[in-house]
Amino acid sequence: MLSQITPQEYEKFKRFLEKACGIVLGEGKQYLISSRLTKLLRDEEIASLSELMTLVNSHFPRSASLRDTVIDAMTTNETSWFRDTTPFICLDKVVFPELSERTNKQYRIWSSACSSGQEPYTISITLSEYLMDSGAGKRLNAEIMATDISASMLNEAKTAEYDESILGRGLSTDRKKKFFIEKPDGIRQVTSEVRNRIRFKEQNLLESYASLGKFDIIFCRNVLIYFSAERKSDILNRMALSLNPNGYLFLGASETITGYCDAFEMIRSPHGVFYRLKS
Ligand SMILES: C[S@@+](CC[C@H](N)C(=O)[O-])C[C@H]1O[C@@H](n2cnc3c(N)ncnc32)[C@H](O)[C@@H]1O
Repeated sequence: MLSQITPQEYEKFKRFLEKACGIVLGEGKQYLISSRLTKLLRDEEIASLSELMTLVNSHFPRSASLRDTVIDAMTTNETSWFRDTTPFICLDKVVFPELSERTNKQYRIWSSACSSGQEPYTISITLSEYLMDSGAGKRLNAEIMATDISASMLNEAKTAEYDESILGRGLSTDRKKKFFIEKPDGIRQVTSEVRNRIRFKEQNLLESYASLGKFDIIFCRNVLIYFSAERKSDILNRMALSLNPNGYLFLGASETITGYCDAFEMIRSPHGVFYRLKS
């Protein structure tokens, strides 16, 4: 285990983490640092948290990759297929029908903390199902940009390969059959039709979104909960600027814009709550 963390080391690490990726460590979270960083420190032969902080803040050649590894270890990557269900019903029943009546353009959807890929693949599956169910008359063309701060999560997401224990978290047998192909050793890979709509890119939510372009729908779920009120407000306001007129925003089940951003109106559909950019 990581040896005793002093109050000074804890404060310094908290400041580093908040500045690097927005995550606010509350009081008494030393055990979290210890459980997530002990192996890294052992493998890198780093004796203490102070030494780690000195290394990540220095200019030695590996400091950038060490910094990324620390951030990777400290982020929570918990996710699942069709997580919370209602956002995807809202897409299918409200947002997709509305977009397909607007124009024929290619819409753009941003999954802004995509973890190991379940969220963007679920959005793409929902679109495939919408197009299958709505008959030949409906057209909806969309590109999905999936981003995360974690390079290792993005690498997992890009393979689009999952084992049974991961597939079991939220996917019906029918969806597994329709949208995955079987590979050896109990692995299944997302079909190319579902994969081809998605592009993956590394993006820290604290940094500029200018290079991503504009979107029609943004998913920002289960990441703002880790951030301070100031960061939440900044991110939501910058996301509002990244949306085209009448664009939509989906947050996680325990997240809200109330008190952080007034650029959106709440849509209370019979299927769930989401947000639309005010006109
Ligand atoms: C709990 S997962 C949520 C995944 C998915 N959105 C969902 O709801 O199932 C949080 C993700 O946020 C990412 N994350 C944390 N801080 C970030 C930041 N500053 N910029 C971009 N992504 C970040 C983590 O790497 C992790 O993959």
